[in-house]
Amino acid sequence: MGKARIGIYGLGTMGSALALNMADHDIDVAVSNREADWIAPFIAEAGGLAARLYPHESLEDFVAALALPRTILFMIPSGPPMDAMLAAITPLLAPGDIVIDGGNADFHDTRRRAAELAGLDLHFVGLGVSGGEEGARHGPSMMMGGSDHSWQQVRPILTAIAARHEGVPCVAHLGPDGAGHFVKTVHNGIEYADMQIIAEIYGLLRNGAALSPPEIAAILAEWNAGPLRSFLVEITAEVLAATDPETGHPVVDVIKDAAGQKGTGRWTVIEALRLGQSASVIEAAVGARSWSSEKELRQAAEARLGGAVGAITATPEVLAEAFMAARLLAYAQGFRVLAAASVEYGWALEPGLIARIWRAGCIIRADLLDDIAGAFDAGVPEGELILSPGYAERLVRYLPSLRQVVAEAAHGGHPVPALAAALAWYDTMRHGHGTAGLIQAQRDRFGRHGFERLGQAGRHHGPWWN
Ligand code: 6PG
Repeated sequence: MGKARIGIYGLGTMGSALALNMADHDIDVAVSNREADWIAPFIAEAGGLAARLYPHESLEDFVAALALPRTILFMIPSGPPMDAMLAAITPLLAPGDIVIDGGNADFHDTRRRAAELAGLDLHFVGLGVSGGEEGARHGPSMMMGGSDHSWQQVRPILTAIAARHEGVPCVAHLGPDGAGHFVKTVHNGIEYADMQIIAEIYGLLRNGAALSPPEIAAILAEWNAGPLRSFLVEITAEVLAATDPETGHPVVDVIKDAAGQKGTGRWTVIEALRLGQSASVIEAAVGARSWSSEKELRQAAEARLGGAVGAITATPEVLAEAFMAARLLAYAQGFRVLAAASVEYGWALEPGLIARIWRAGCIIRADLLDDIAGAFDAGVPEGELILSPGYAERLVRYLPSLRQVVAEAAHGGHPVPALAAALAWYDTMRHGHGTAGLIQAQRDRFGRHGFERLGQAGRHHGPWWN
């Protein structure tokens, strides 16, 4: 048996799928797992692909099975398990070896680990992998952060297994250390926002227009044939059309309305705020998930405060335009966070490239990303998507519908935190003169903070201090 080109440690859903994807592309992969009894069943189920998979129970044998420089991909839970594995494996490695974390790690951890391993002449890569199990098995979108040496080593492997958009592989070296994991984090933030926008529109159709889940599924399926085409719209239509075999009810009605979250959406929001921004649509989506998990409180509040909602008269066409407007704004906020982090961490992220590798394989793949890639390639004024010609033209066209939908929702008592956040951001940004002069005056009045005067240099105080 020759040496394997790469080792995958962690044979959960994503690790196994990536190993099989690599084997499918004639890549020899050493595999191992903390629970050794997972390894044999995985190999048994791999069928003909098992010939390319080298199973090893001990970490020493697993490492010894790899060609030099070694490339090891960890697909394990993020956080302390990754630090524990690094402590165990680094003594077995040699200078130039590459360790990849393919999980949804906090990019601050990735930066720290990259610095620690660099001190040992080892290379640490943060690899964002998107697309769930199906993507990992047949073509994920991958966002790589690490050294040039690492990219040279892993590029042929990642290019072989990546999703393709019109033949172009959806994988790129985005920058050093935490760049890949950060871009994946923002991808997930946008994912949260898009999911929440869809859920809010579903709620309006369901509770405000009294449509059934299969009827809403048909509307979404139709939208998916137009400019809103995206993976999330496609699977939502599929989900809403599904019937629960146990009860005969729509599946969506038997699922507890309490959304989980593992942290990436929250990290996007935290980082946006830290960078002096507010990705408010993403923030609304993260908050809505948190509120959803407070089911008992919501039930008590409904009994105490009343849960009645009014009718929604907006047509599916108007709702589709409102959805598009909110999606445009949510994606724009995501790209703003990427731009701010790129400056802060010196990553030189290329937004056009990021949009291109998100066009296939990942969860937020959508026709809109093709337009965004095109916009960045053509040059976006100030790097702000909302100022780019195609974007601005669409925003102006669709905004009346977003305004109508948010107004009707507010009037009828329907919760639409993400749609409302999108509208509020739009309305804030389209006013060159806002109300913050009053905030400045208040700050000066109570704390002598001073303010800038329009058209005059220097720091000033109000007459209340005279
Ligand atoms: C992807 C997804 C994936 C993520 C899930 C669940 O790009 O394939 O983003 O990485 O783990 O979407 O995330 P939450 O549990 O936070 O919803």
